[in-house]
Amino acid sequence: MYRLGYVRLILSLFALFVLGVLASEDVSAPGVGSDSIDPTRGSTFDTPATKDSTINRATIACHDCPDSDCFKCTLGKNATVVAYTGTNINISALIGFDMSVDGSSVKSCNIQIPAFTDLPQSDITVIISKAAPTDWNEDTVTGKNAPAVSAQIASVVVPALNNLGPVDITPACQGAVDGKFSVYFSAKSGRYEFWARDWGSPAILHVTKV
Ligand SMILES: *[C@@H]1O[C@H](CO)[C@@H](O)[C@H](O)[C@H]1NC(C)=O
Ligand SMILES: *[C@@H]1O[C@H](CO)[C@@H](O)[C@H](O)[C@H]1NC(C)=O
Repeated sequence: MYRLGYVRLILSLFALFVLGVLASEDVSAPGVGSDSIDPTRGSTFDTPATKDSTINRATIACHDCPDSDCFKCTLGKNATVVAYTGTNINISALIGFDMSVDGSSVKSCNIQIPAFTDLPQSDITVIISKAAPTDWNEDTVTGKNAPAVSAQIASVVVPALNNLGPVDITPACQGAVDGKFSVYFSAKSGRYEFWARDWGSPAILHVTKV
């Protein structure tokens, strides 16, 4: 009796061991075939702006600029950026990103700019446009050499006393060259100003991959 019980115990343990091995192989089995799918597919990531600058194309006299020529001002290192549309005044904020993924792997993206330095006292319309893929840097960009303004991609009304929330700019992200692209923020009319990267407060891009 004692011996029979001992054999049964051994057999049971062996059976449990075999079942355990089978079960563990079952768990790993679904991995077959999914190896070819990008594990980051559908994932999201945030990336801060790498550069920003006010681009002044006003045709008035700007006494703070070289030769009082607004187009010659370099404002890339300022703590804020400005958008201002008025009579003979054409000023916009240029913001550049480097997503480190190709535009073709972007499903959607939106941009969150930092807070306005002063909340608008009446409704303002913020216009976002693509910038031509010309390279630029904060030390040298001016109204003369800045990328051309390209297609408008968004127009958003910001109610008085509010900040601007996230805005979908998917077409700009998808047009990125080597992950790099820039967008212009302008005002349909009037003026707004927001904190800049050089103040420690870059615009943030939220990207969803295909
Ligand atoms: C840029 O910054 C300089 C120095 O802080 C300041 O004098 C100037 O008014 C600023 N210009 C704009 C357009 O914000
Ligand atoms: C401002 O200047 C840009 C670039 O030259 C131009 O595309 C845009 O139409 C101008 N905007 C206004 C309101 O004049």
